[in-house]
Amino acid sequence: MGLRTLSDLGNLAGKRVIVRCDLNVPLKDGVITDDGRIRASIPTLNALVEQGARVVVVSHLGRPDGAPDPAYSLRPVASRLEELIGRPVGFSSETVGAEANRAVSELQNGSLLVLENLRFNAAETAKDDSVRGAFAQQLASLCDALVSDGFGVVHRKQASVFDLASLVPSAAGLLIESELKVLEKLTESPERPYTVVLGGSKVSDKLGVIDHLLPRVDRILVGGGMVFTFLAALGYKVGSSLLEVDQIPTVQRYMEEAAKKGVELVLPTDIVVAAKFAADADHVIAATDALEDTPFGASGLGLDIGPESSQAFAKIIESSATVFWNGPAGVFEFPAFAGGTHAIAEALTKVNGLSVVGGGDSAAAVRVLGFHDDQFGHISTGGGASLEFLEGKKLPGLEVLGW
Ligand code: 3PG
Repeated sequence: MGLRTLSDLGNLAGKRVIVRCDLNVPLKDGVITDDGRIRASIPTLNALVEQGARVVVVSHLGRPDGAPDPAYSLRPVASRLEELIGRPVGFSSETVGAEANRAVSELQNGSLLVLENLRFNAAETAKDDSVRGAFAQQLASLCDALVSDGFGVVHRKQASVFDLASLVPSAAGLLIESELKVLEKLTESPERPYTVVLGGSKVSDKLGVIDHLLPRVDRILVGGGMVFTFLAALGYKVGSSLLEVDQIPTVQRYMEEAAKKGVELVLPTDIVVAAKFAADADHVIAATDALEDTPFGASGLGLDIGPESSQAFAKIIESSATVFWNGPAGVFEFPAFAGGTHAIAEALTKVNGLSVVGGGDSAAAVRVLGFHDDQFGHISTGGGASLEFLEGKKLPGLEVLGW
């Protein structure tokens, strides 16, 4: 059995269809800073509207504490969706309950409604199957079918992603289909050389993927906050930079394995070291084996890879036939520490082959730094989801759709 897709649901005209999207977009002071996930949800929504379905969009936003919190309301997201899709979009300030029932029952054929953040109800993310199941039943009472299209959340066993899909006829939407098409190319015979670029703050988030990729790739480039655990594993001092001491032995083992397998594990040779974590912090460039030999001594913080490393990384990326990148190389939100991330993004745009930006922070970074989606082979909407996919893990939100 393969993944169930929209055509498996038959004619949806007049049917109430819940579309589980991932509209978890970054917000700063209530303003959406990257609407990529909203844009990515539009093809499926349009396809359903054009069929005359009554479309009920559900999503999470952030990680509220299982209770309503205005900071995480989907209302601004619904407004942005209305602008982008060019059709009226209703909004219910309840996810389930009397107001949601009324709003859904008033939907006309071909019209759209967004329900408030699923995670305002603790049952959405509950570990207890029966608690989640009861919430999924409430969602099921609002619809005749489920189209699951939130690729960014398919690695979560949550009520709207997993349990609901077994209670009503369900299938994947167009976004999930297109994400899988590209990501499968990375797992099934990718063109070589195949390079993976990893960054971001926590090495512990990336250990699974490194473990799984070591036998499958030609080069792994490491940047971002996670690099300091690698440098510490080489015996270098890292000042006050991010460090996960408990992961040092694992990182040492990966470096040995990479050497045995002939995988190039490339670390930066220079780092931008700052006096403090601030946009206007004093900073200097230091060699990776001399990070404490700066005016800031042991209190210096590495906030980006240096220019020599950026150049070296760019060269390797540009000479690859397949590249997957997840995690910024530095604190790209501060222009003084965005150089490494910018260099990596630019190099990806020059790849003669398949370049994939793996969701989350990296997707936001390329847009914030002024790149356009069509400069890359693919920008995934899933950060954690695309990593877990590459790790070869079972993803509950896909398995339940027959994948
Ligand atoms: C993401 O941003 O990776 C997804 O929206 C999932 O969010 P979560 O990590 O809070 O489950």
